[in-house]
Amino acid sequence: MKWTENVVGCLFLVVYLCSYNHQVNALDNGLLRQPPMGWLTWQRFRCVTDCKTYPDTCIGEKLIRTQAQLLVDGGYLAAGYQYIIIDDCWLNTTRAPDGSLQPDNQRFPSGIPALADYVHSLGLKFGIYEDYGTETCAGYPGILGHLEQDAKTFASWKVDYLKLDGCNADIKDFDTGYPAMEQALNSTGFPIAYSCSWPAYQEFSKIKPNYTAIAQTCNLWRNWADIDDSWGSVYSIAQWFGDNQDRLSPFHGPGHWNDPDMIVIGNFGLSPGQSRAQMALWSIMAAPLILSVDLRTISDWARAIILNKNLIAINQDPLGAMGRRILKLDGNVEVWSKPLEDDRVAFVALYPDPYGTPIQVTISLADLGLIRYQDYNFFESFNGDFLGKYHYTDKYSCTINPSGDVHAFYVESAAPTKKFRRH
Ligand SMILES: *[C@@H]1O[C@H](CO)[C@@H](O)[C@H](O)[C@H]1NC(C)=O
Ligand SMILES: *[C@@H]1O[C@H](CO)[C@@H](O)[C@H](O)[C@H]1NC(C)=O
Ligand SMILES: *[C@@H]1O[C@H](CO)[C@@H](O)[C@H](O)[C@H]1NC(C)=O
Repeated sequence: MKWTENVVGCLFLVVYLCSYNHQVNALDNGLLRQPPMGWLTWQRFRCVTDCKTYPDTCIGEKLIRTQAQLLVDGGYLAAGYQYIIIDDCWLNTTRAPDGSLQPDNQRFPSGIPALADYVHSLGLKFGIYEDYGTETCAGYPGILGHLEQDAKTFASWKVDYLKLDGCNADIKDFDTGYPAMEQALNSTGFPIAYSCSWPAYQEFSKIKPNYTAIAQTCNLWRNWADIDDSWGSVYSIAQWFGDNQDRLSPFHGPGHWNDPDMIVIGNFGLSPGQSRAQMALWSIMAAPLILSVDLRTISDWARAIILNKNLIAINQDPLGAMGRRILKLDGNVEVWSKPLEDDRVAFVALYPDPYGTPIQVTISLADLGLIRYQDYNFFESFNGDFLGKYHYTDKYSCTINPSGDVHAFYVESAAPTKKFRRH
């Protein structure tokens, strides 16, 4: 190999290590070493509490039991989707006489411990929602003034995952309040994954979040807008993460994750191509894969995308690197890239424009950052098909369908012996 190639290779290696192996002093409760995978009520089921009118979709133990069973029967648990999480609207509007939290007893007649036991008996983990403020976003009792008591309640119920929202609170309190709840959870001695909405409220208020403190406190955190059931929502969230990747990615890694919000595949809003795009982009971002879909009515094609083994492996890669948007090309095509273990790299090329005809794009391997080895083998990510062997001086061409479809691929060295030595 020529000297110049070595210099380029070494420079690339330095950039690579700086961008991705950033060490942060993070929360160490041993949980979520890979991005969490699971199912959450919110996006699909919202705050439907009228079980007379909506007996099959209201927030209650019947819905949770049904979806939990389907997570197992449908192969989702086997694929890694492990957590089933109840979002807002599970609570009674008042606390019990002793001040403790209690569920709505019409919709959760068996109580939360029995529901958690049932979920655990299926091999799943159980998650629940609360809010740091005086009330949740939907107006149920919040935890303010009851942090220790509520943490003990959650631990006694064997809650494995707490999503803590930030409605009806003073955002200025979050820098002390979210850590105080982390202390309260830790003091219970029961391992509870901690999902914080702390930075999302700050970003929206144009207050610069202290991500150092957030990564020391939370296992994952919502940074930005709630996702809705539309391509516009999925795309704008992905763009926000791309625009802010330099300041977010250093804090992303095993045990502490940025969270662009739920997977909305399988609902009403996304085409098959846009569904592939969300799965591919969330996998590249090493984002939590938290489904919000009715598993009774999900289509076969949506289920296949959600259960795609290769995409899940890219998402769950042990390096835990948050992929980055590395190129913007003609037609608003953008290319994202994520380093994987064993020096493999995953890519997604997204074509958002709605102008009918598929677009052909040609990208040099150098622009893809593929200059470390002589030759690379390319594979399509969804089906694993071999796409060809390329020299580092070559260009790679692909065709992408419009309106938010993707071409997803990953590469590995075709000649492992030519590898540069790690320094
Ligand atoms: C709410 O809690 C109150 C007081 O504990 C109780 O009397 C009432 O039945 C509960 N209602 C529901 C819907 O859970
Ligand atoms: C509590 O914090 C300590 C110190 O970071 C950690 O080692 C331990 O695993 C935590 N325990 C729980 C239950 O989160
Ligand atoms: C951010 O949080 C870290 C860890 O708690 C702290 O050491 C640092 O001073 C904070 N930075 C700012 C600007 O407040």
